[in-house]
Amino acid sequence: MYIEQQEILKHIAAKPFRIISEAADELGYEAYVIGGYVRDIFLRRPSKDIDIVAIGSGIELARLVAQKLGKGTSLSVFKTFGTAQVKSGDLELEFVGARKESYTHDSRKPIVENGTLEDDQNRRDFTINALALCLNKARYGELVDPFDGLADMDNLVIRTPLDPDITFSDDPLRMMRAVRFASQLGFYIDLDTFDAIERNKERIEIISKERIADELNKIILSPKPSVGFELLDRCGLLQLIFPELCALKGVETKEGIGHKDNFAHTLMVLDRLSKTTDNLWLRWSALLHDIAKPATKRFDNRLGWTFHNHNFIGEKMIPGIFRRMKLPMNEKMKYVQKMVSLHMRPIALADEEVTDSAIRRLLFDAGDEIDDLMLLCEADITSKNPEKVRRFLNNFKLVRSKLAEIEEKDRVRNFQPPVSGEEIMEIFGLTPSRPVGVLKEAIKNAILDGEIPNEYEEARLFMLKRAEKMGLFPKS
Ligand code: CTP
Repeated sequence: MYIEQQEILKHIAAKPFRIISEAADELGYEAYVIGGYVRDIFLRRPSKDIDIVAIGSGIELARLVAQKLGKGTSLSVFKTFGTAQVKSGDLELEFVGARKESYTHDSRKPIVENGTLEDDQNRRDFTINALALCLNKARYGELVDPFDGLADMDNLVIRTPLDPDITFSDDPLRMMRAVRFASQLGFYIDLDTFDAIERNKERIEIISKERIADELNKIILSPKPSVGFELLDRCGLLQLIFPELCALKGVETKEGIGHKDNFAHTLMVLDRLSKTTDNLWLRWSALLHDIAKPATKRFDNRLGWTFHNHNFIGEKMIPGIFRRMKLPMNEKMKYVQKMVSLHMRPIALADEEVTDSAIRRLLFDAGDEIDDLMLLCEADITSKNPEKVRRFLNNFKLVRSKLAEIEEKDRVRNFQPPVSGEEIMEIFGLTPSRPVGVLKEAIKNAILDGEIPNEYEEARLFMLKRAEKMGLFPKS
């Protein structure tokens, strides 16, 4: 990985770096930029979190830097961790003293002692994350790369600096990070490193669910997420952190009839969708769209393999999965539930004749999420039969144009009943009761079925007629 020295210097040219240099020289410390920021210079990726390691007190260095930077700078000190953060403009600088760490077996909390740069680099996760650039004036921009991280970067390899068993048992989250970097950067995990993940996988237990979810989200947001999920599966981590996804694996054959491997299919859908959206929760929806297939699988002598209601059962499984994985139990989860429950609707439509009424109902049920739902459905077409794919995609075009046409005409995407419940109660002198709901539902269905337009006057007349049949008459 060759980069001109000039290019490196450009990345450490901003004022705060010069100030760190000055401050470190004054204190008699060595200071280095280390970790992700340096890695990303070589990978030509944008990066704004900057880690600074001082051979001395990170907090003292941060204090002096903040003082020298003056106005518009903020300093936060975390004494118990021996770290400090300086914010200056849009740069965030994290300061820490070089450490020599060892970990107790049952927790991530390290026993920390002061150390040299080498000690600090030894305790980092991967060779590509252990690169350091010196900031002291005499060696400004000098790269310190004791583990040949640059060569690993050239060869696209994720490798631990120390014996991987030590690196992973020190901090088991790193096993997830190895997979995440492989998926995010398109790198390969070195064989010894991978074997160590297989050996140490059970240690993932001591890691908090939130941190695991963070890594999982980064895998899902990577350019081709199947890379990460296949690695997680192969090393055995997936079974421990996401057994429902593992349960999708495999193909069963009965009477000569097989079904598709739903794990491979799910990953294919996720990869296809990832080409069209960076929406994390839509990508989660792809990952979970068939999650209830194992639970609903039946063999029927006439129909072959069926997965009846897997969309509804899937929708019901989601809160349990989100709760266990410490994913947000809020409108993001509801959005995923909605996508999973509706994921077959546009396909079913494209398969039949596309009636206005079916389109209106789809618009009504999907609301503002209709465009996302269409992206998910298009990604879901993974058939190997080109004729079938062509037919589906053509029908989808038709569904899309009908959706646009009907929405323009009938505005049911954000349907608000043209006659409100209050008005119904007022007209007939009713208190909140069943007939009010029946009338509201009847108006909604008449509009969705195209019997009446989505307009106040027509809806009011329709309602009066329907009420009459129910023996209800206006008050006066
Ligand atoms: N690090 C580590 N072990 C971890 C987490 C972090 O050794 N479990 C080290 C690595 O040297 C890493 C640095 O701390 O480069 C900063 O970590 P972090 O900010 O979490 O990740 P980055 O590598 O910067 O990558 P990203 O910003 O993509 O998460």
